[in-house]
Amino acid sequence: MAKAKIGILTGGGDCAGLNPAIKWAVKTAMDRRLETERGVQYEVLGIKNGWSGLMFEAGSDLNLDDYIMPLDEQKVRTWDRYGGTMLGTSRTNPYNPKNNQSRLVMDNIQKLGLDALIAIGGDDTLGVACKLAQDGVKVVGIPKTIDKDMVETDYTLGFETALNVITEEVDRLRTTAGSHRRIFVVETMGRHSGWLALEGGESCGAYIILIPECDFSIERVGELLLEGRKAGNLYEIVLVAEGAKPAGGEEFIRQEGVDGFGHKMLGGVGEFLAREIYKSTGMETRSVVLSHLQRGGAPCAFDRRMGRYFGIAAVDLIVNGDFGRMVAYRNGEITSCPMARVIGRTSYVDIQKHYDVERYNGRRAIFRNK
Ligand code: F6P
Repeated sequence: MAKAKIGILTGGGDCAGLNPAIKWAVKTAMDRRLETERGVQYEVLGIKNGWSGLMFEAGSDLNLDDYIMPLDEQKVRTWDRYGGTMLGTSRTNPYNPKNNQSRLVMDNIQKLGLDALIAIGGDDTLGVACKLAQDGVKVVGIPKTIDKDMVETDYTLGFETALNVITEEVDRLRTTAGSHRRIFVVETMGRHSGWLALEGGESCGAYIILIPECDFSIERVGELLLEGRKAGNLYEIVLVAEGAKPAGGEEFIRQEGVDGFGHKMLGGVGEFLAREIYKSTGMETRSVVLSHLQRGGAPCAFDRRMGRYFGIAAVDLIVNGDFGRMVAYRNGEITSCPMARVIGRTSYVDIQKHYDVERYNGRRAIFRNK
C-alpha cells in the first residue's frame, strides 16, 4: 500500500478546540478502515510550536524531538478534553520581511518527508500557509481564533468556549457588583472585531457592550448608566472589547512594540473607561481584564464537536488533493474555500444588522418592521 506523511501544527494565540482538531485529524488520517478504502497508509507528524517547528537548522546539536512529535491514535486518544494545544504554539512568521526563512521551512518540509501539511490558525498562521501553498507546498488550513474575525466561515475554533468564560466570569462579578452597587467594566479580547464582546455580552446579559466597529461617546455611556440606576438597577456590567475606542480617540496599547506579524498589543480601554465613568457619574466603578482567561480551560461541547468536524474535513481535503484550501462552517454545514480568499480580510460586526448604536448593546429586533 502507498504511504504518505501528514504534518500538523498549531500557530498564533492558543484557544480551546485545537486539541480536538488535532485528535480527529490524526484519527481520520490513521483510520485502518479508511486506509483500505483510500489505498494509502498515512503517518502523522506533530510539528511543535507553530511555524518555528519547521525552522530547525542541521547541525550536531540538532535534536529533532524539540521540533516534532510523531502522533498516533493512542497518543491523541484523550486530547479533545483539554484546552490549549499539546503541540505548543508561537507567533513565528517565516515570511517576516526582516528575516525571511520560508526557504528553510520548505527545505525542512522535504527533509521530514511531509507529503501534506495541516495548519491550524488564524489569519497570520493561515497567511503563512497560503504563501507556502503558492510556493508549491501541499497545505490545508483549519480556522481558529476566539475573535471569530475570519471571513468565509461562520465559526472559528475557540470562540464558544471563550463566550462561556465571559458568561461565567461575569456571573461571578454580578454578586460582588450587586453587594456594593458598583459598575463593573469588563475588558474582553477582540482586536478589530467585536464578535466576542457582542456575543459574550449578549450571553451574559451585559448592560452596555462596546465594540471596535462603533466608536463610543463617554457622555452617552454615562447617560445610559445613570438612566439604568434611575430605573432601579443595583449595578451594571459594561463589556468592552480591547480594540474599542472613544470617538476621536486612539486604540489603547498594553505594551509597546509589535509581534512577529506586526500586531500592536492592545489593552487598557477598560481601566480608562472605569475612570471616566466614575468622573462623569460619581458611581463607584471597577474594571476587570479577562485577557487570556478567555483562551484557557477545557473546550466546551461545541468546540469539541467543531474541532472534530474540522479535523476530519482537513484530512478529507488532503485525501482528495484539494490543497490550498481552508475548512469552514457555513450556514450550518462544513465546507471549504480557497485560503487566498480568507487571508488579509476581516469579518466585522455589521452594526446595522447586529448592534444597537443608541443603547450600545445587541439588537432588540430580530424581524425588522417592513
Ligand atoms: O488571537 C487573537 C487574540 O485573541 C487577540 O484578541 C488578542 O489581542 C491577542 O490574541 C493577544 O494575544 P497574545 O497576548 O497571546 O499575543
